[in-house]
Amino acid sequence: MYRTHTCGELRIENQGTQVTLAGWVQRVRNLGGMTFVDLRDRYGITQLVFDENTNPTVKSKVDELGREYVIQALGIVRERSSKNKNIPTGDIEIEVSGLNILNASLVPPFTIEDESDGGDDIRMKYRYLDLRRNPVRNTLILRAKMAHAVRSYLNSNDFIETETPVLIKSTPEGARDFVVPSRMNPGEFYALPQSPQQLKQLLMVAGFDRYYQIVKCFRDEDLRADRQPEFTQIDCEMSFVEQEDVLNMFEGLTRYLFNEIKGVEISEFPRMPYAEATKNYGSDKPDIRFGMQIKELTGLVKGKGFQVFDDAEFIGGICAEGCAEYTRKQLDELTNWVKRPQIGAKGMVYVKYNTDGSLKSSVDKFYSPEELAKWAEVFGAKPGDLMLILSGPKNAMLKAIGELRLEMGNQLGLRDKNVFKPLWVVDFPLLEWDEETKRFYAMHHPFTSPKPEDIPLLETDPGAVRANAYDLVINGVEIGGGSVRIFDKELQARMFNLLGFTPEQAEYQFGFLMNAFKYGAPPHAGIAFGFDRLTSMFAGLDSIRDTIAFPKNNSGRDVMMDCPSVISNEQLDELQLKIDLKEK
Ligand code: AMO
Repeated sequence: MYRTHTCGELRIENQGTQVTLAGWVQRVRNLGGMTFVDLRDRYGITQLVFDENTNPTVKSKVDELGREYVIQALGIVRERSSKNKNIPTGDIEIEVSGLNILNASLVPPFTIEDESDGGDDIRMKYRYLDLRRNPVRNTLILRAKMAHAVRSYLNSNDFIETETPVLIKSTPEGARDFVVPSRMNPGEFYALPQSPQQLKQLLMVAGFDRYYQIVKCFRDEDLRADRQPEFTQIDCEMSFVEQEDVLNMFEGLTRYLFNEIKGVEISEFPRMPYAEATKNYGSDKPDIRFGMQIKELTGLVKGKGFQVFDDAEFIGGICAEGCAEYTRKQLDELTNWVKRPQIGAKGMVYVKYNTDGSLKSSVDKFYSPEELAKWAEVFGAKPGDLMLILSGPKNAMLKAIGELRLEMGNQLGLRDKNVFKPLWVVDFPLLEWDEETKRFYAMHHPFTSPKPEDIPLLETDPGAVRANAYDLVINGVEIGGGSVRIFDKELQARMFNLLGFTPEQAEYQFGFLMNAFKYGAPPHAGIAFGFDRLTSMFAGLDSIRDTIAFPKNNSGRDVMMDCPSVISNEQLDELQLKIDLKEK
């Protein structure tokens, strides 16, 4: 037997017990006559003591020990003279009588401590050492618990967990596909699923009624803190349901997870139309932990000789409570912040509502105090507040003010990581116009159903058609998205036509789905949650990277395995790819 106990288990009640522990050497301290070793495993740290009377063979092995050596120690549990209140095993230590070195270790390239001295790159290269650190491992333990709770909730609601293939036909969901060449079918490729969207719809045609899968999805897109090329969805689909049924079921899942895992009760779960979200928050994923809604001034401020406003399509802003005291320097910093290319404003106008009731703005030359008072009324501002105003093209400015709102939320400490405010954003537009290619794209995916009352607009005013599509947003993060599906093959054909597919192209890409719809497809709807994003929110992390055991870096590389990598000429030959690649 390698061990009788783990390194996190022994307490003062175990005093006098003979035990065997195994684990990694965290630290060796040699204090003259005594040597102390902190022994670590997944469960905790236990102090081992070797004193001068230790037998000579054990002593010589102790002298060999270095950080991260794997050892087995036999000894008696005894009370410590100086206790460590910071760890659960801090009242005891092991007086060691036998020691086995099971494996030596090179000196690790960074310290295996909660606060490591290793930079991101080196930690990724030696990810297996990084995973020995408590914060990283604890996030993965949290992830495992969440997956268990997800299964428990969905199983108890009659969902059937079903695996779908990883080698499939290309699915158009907005990103690029990762493709896999087929040796047995030269010149032909599989695609890795961007999501199992069409397969889960086929399971509804098959009468499964309720499907789920915690599933890997692959998207070849630009990476950000909340995006990995390979990520995990909690993917679900339901038959004979309407939008409300799906929202209620997954509101239930969200509440259950918060309760089970974090002990947090979610009180409200509002629903907000997309149009309202973009108007009031400048975003389709509003952070509703704080107010500071966007107000429009366009009609009020034009025609007073201030050219910037007169020329602008939209003028609006936010009111930052209690910020009238902001200094010149702080206002300059904010102005520079909104002028960065990522935000894209040309400049910023401010109005200070001083505590003495006077109003001071950066455009006093053009607007009287009475006029500024009207602005303050629109903002609902009170003495002590600061109004920040941007102007320019409508959509771009709403977005920029939305970003400024988040920045002010950060500066004012209004975005507490321990407060959770979920909501459903509903009634998304069905289609998005792309100026570059001069055509419509599906905002969600081509299988999303238009709102029945908007169907007549499909051919006359496609941009105005709303979809039965919904997103779950928590604290400004898009956690999940889904829709009611089209289950009528005629309507689906109209959609493909709108999206610029010829009947032949639609047949080539989606023939199998269209065919299946000829055999009695039930009404169905579904959703997928981003599991990595949900985990990072529960763990209080800003990036999804540490919710994944072996993530990719920002250029999509696995720096530990060092891939993607070239493959041998033999492999290329077999795949009949060699010639194409050489030509490139
Ligand atoms: P969608 O594309 O909105 O919907 O994806 C669902 C959720 O998956 C997460 N997500 C990601 N997480 C990490 N890295 C990525 N690259 C990434 N891309 C998406 C997000 C997102 O909300 N088939 C539909 C769902 C449906 O209609 O049922 C779909 O995939 O949290």
